[in-house]
Amino acid sequence: MRRLPPVLIEDGCPRDLLSLIRTILAACKEISFRVSQGELSGVLGSTLDENIQGETQKKLDVLSNQLLKDILLESGYVKAIASEEEDYTVAGNPDAEYIVAFDPLDGSSNTDINSLVGTIFSIMKAPKDKAADDQSIFMQAGKHQVAAGYVLYGPSTMLALTIGKGTRLFTLDRTHGSFLLTEDKVTIPEDTKEFAINASNQRHWLAPMQNYIADCLAGEEGPRKKNFNMRWIACMVGDVHRLLCRGGLFTYPEDTKNPEKPFKLRLLYEANPMAMLVEQAGGVAYAGLDRILDIEPQEIHQRVAVTMGSKNEVEICLDYHK
Ligand code: F6P
Repeated sequence: MRRLPPVLIEDGCPRDLLSLIRTILAACKEISFRVSQGELSGVLGSTLDENIQGETQKKLDVLSNQLLKDILLESGYVKAIASEEEDYTVAGNPDAEYIVAFDPLDGSSNTDINSLVGTIFSIMKAPKDKAADDQSIFMQAGKHQVAAGYVLYGPSTMLALTIGKGTRLFTLDRTHGSFLLTEDKVTIPEDTKEFAINASNQRHWLAPMQNYIADCLAGEEGPRKKNFNMRWIACMVGDVHRLLCRGGLFTYPEDTKNPEKPFKLRLLYEANPMAMLVEQAGGVAYAGLDRILDIEPQEIHQRVAVTMGSKNEVEICLDYHK
């Protein structure tokens, strides 16, 4: 068995940032426990409410949001938080150094079928010249994130974390309640034969994405001259985890299904943290032809197109769009 170094000891990670990450992980361990109890913890199914994005809230969405919100605001480490489940940002300690954006329970439609779900978080420095209740505190491009990560609640609970010095994977040791380092330097292969897309939207995609996927599906007989495999977990954390483990291309492209909502995934607490994890593992991440981490956000619940993963394959996909 591999000898594991101590938990979360990151060279050069400021002590207060480490404490903030540990605070987030304390809530994630509780979420992990509730998810693993399933029906026994009485948290499956929906509430009668919708979030600001018009989506029905699952009981686990609400519970996970409350756990993260309470622990972060009580910790004193955050000046403000932004959550998928909160209409507006929530002010914390006005003197704190960090702000955190999070999706408390990504892929929550999977909760009722005992499938993968996760928590995604993005940590940035809090601008000193802005008040804690100023929403514009979060209007920073993703390249300014100081840390990003997700916790995947699967057969094992795993943490993917970057503080800008590579991407590392940790596995929750349930006997001690600690996340132990299990992959020190995640490296996404540059080439792949695997893609992930919700194919039920195919007729709504723009022409370049239609053409790219059609050529992948044509396999050895088509212009790509190789056979592709397709996977879709309907939980971005699960799909991005597969990218970190064995490469691939993940995309939720622009579509024309609802002209008022051409994009699905949220910039601040989905695209940005995942883009940082993927780039730090040697992959690339784009929204259309723009690098995700360069996008200046306009509002906290902004949505973007997302294509990320193995460098060469993502670049081939982008070529169809040029
Ligand atoms: O944003 C939420 C999310 O559940 C992602 O985790 C996932 O990648 C995507 O939406 C699934 O979308 P669909 O319901 O179209 O499969």
